[in-house]
Amino acid sequence: MTIDPKNFRDLDPGERVLMGPGPSNVSPRVLSALGAPCIGHLDPYFLSIMDETQALLRALFQTENQLTIPVSGTGSAGMETCFVNLVQPGDKVVIGVNGVFGTRMSDVASRLGAEVTRVEAEWGRAVDPGDIRQAALQEKPKIIALVHAETSTGVRQPIGGLRDIADECGALLLLDTVTSLGGIEVAVDKWGIDAVYSGTQKCLSCPPGLSPISLSARAMEVLKKRKTKVPNWYLDMSLVADYWGSSRKYHHTAPVNMIYALREALRLIVEEGMAARFERHLTNHQALVAGLEAMGLSMLVKPEERLPMLNAVVVPDGVDELKVRQRLLAEYGIEIGGGLGDLSGKIWRVGLMGFSCSRRNVTLFLSALERVLWA
Ligand SMILES: Cc1ncc(COP(=O)(O)O)c(C=O)c1O
Repeated sequence: MTIDPKNFRDLDPGERVLMGPGPSNVSPRVLSALGAPCIGHLDPYFLSIMDETQALLRALFQTENQLTIPVSGTGSAGMETCFVNLVQPGDKVVIGVNGVFGTRMSDVASRLGAEVTRVEAEWGRAVDPGDIRQAALQEKPKIIALVHAETSTGVRQPIGGLRDIADECGALLLLDTVTSLGGIEVAVDKWGIDAVYSGTQKCLSCPPGLSPISLSARAMEVLKKRKTKVPNWYLDMSLVADYWGSSRKYHHTAPVNMIYALREALRLIVEEGMAARFERHLTNHQALVAGLEAMGLSMLVKPEERLPMLNAVVVPDGVDELKVRQRLLAEYGIEIGGGLGDLSGKIWRVGLMGFSCSRRNVTLFLSALERVLWA
C-alpha cells in the first residue's frame, strides 16, 4: 500500500475554550514543559524530576504517604490501580453510587471478583453517609469506596465521618478525586483516606494521560499481605513502587514528557497557593450560577451539594441541548458537556477547572449562551 504524505495535514486543532467536564485548557507553561527534550527514564536528571513530582503530589494530596505517584494512564487507570491492588476474589466492597463513576467503580470491583454492595442515591444528590454506615455495619467490607466529585452530575460528596464508619468495621477508605483534586480541598491524611486516585486533565490543567494516586501505610500492608499476586502486572504497585522508590528498578518506561508537564502544573498550583486556588474556583462558580439564574436557568444540584468546578445546568423545556452545544463550539469555540445516562438531554455540564476557571471565561460563556439561547 502506498500512502501519500500530502493527504495528512499539518496539525492545527485551533483554539478552544474548554468548559466541559475535562480536559480543561492547559497553561502555556505546561505545554512548553511537554516540549522539553525527552531524556532517559533512568537519567539522574529525570530521577530528580520524579522526586520533585512526588513531593509536589504529596503536598497537593496533603499526605505523608510514601507511595504517592502518577500512574501511567488516565483517571480510569488510577481507579483500576486502587481496586486491583487491594481486592482479592470474594472480598466485600461497599460503593456509593450516584452517577457514572460510582457505577464504573462497581464494574471494576466486580470484575475482580469482589462482592459489591452498591449504596445508591438519586443522580444529582450526594450519597447519604447514614446509608453508607448501615451497609458497612451489615457487610463488614474490606473497602468502602466513594466518588468525591461526581463529574456526571456535579455533586460533591461529604467526607466528614467516613473514617469513623470505616474504623467501626475495619475497612479501608477509597476515594475518587479525579475532578476534585486541585479545585477543592483533598486532605488525604486528615480524612484518613487509604487509597486515592485522580487525573491530570481536570483541575490540574495538564493534558490527559496520568493518574496521580496515593496509598496509605495501611493499604500498603494489605497489598503486602495478599495471598495471590496482583492480577495486573502493569498496575501492580508492589513492582511500580520499586521504580519510584530508592531502588529505581526498571518496571516500564515512564512517560517522561508527561511527567515534566505534571510537575509544571503542580508548580503552578504551589505558586498560586492552594487556598487561593480553591477560592478562585468557588468565586467563579458563584458568578456563573448568579449569571445563569439571572437568565432564568436553574441548577440540577442543591446549593450545599454543588461542586464549584462542575456545574450541572437544567436544559429548559423545548430547547435542543445538542444544538446549543454545537453552536457554542462552532460560533464561540466554547466546549461544554451534555448529560450522561439518565441525565442525557436534560443537563449541560459546565466545567470551571484549573486554567479554564477564570472570570473572563465565565463572562464569555454567559454572553455566548444568552445569544445562542435567546437572540
Ligand atoms: C470522577 C471521575 N472518575 C474517573 C474518571 C475516569 O477518568 P479518565 O476518563 O481520565 O479515564 C473520570 C473522568 O471523567 C471522572 O470524572
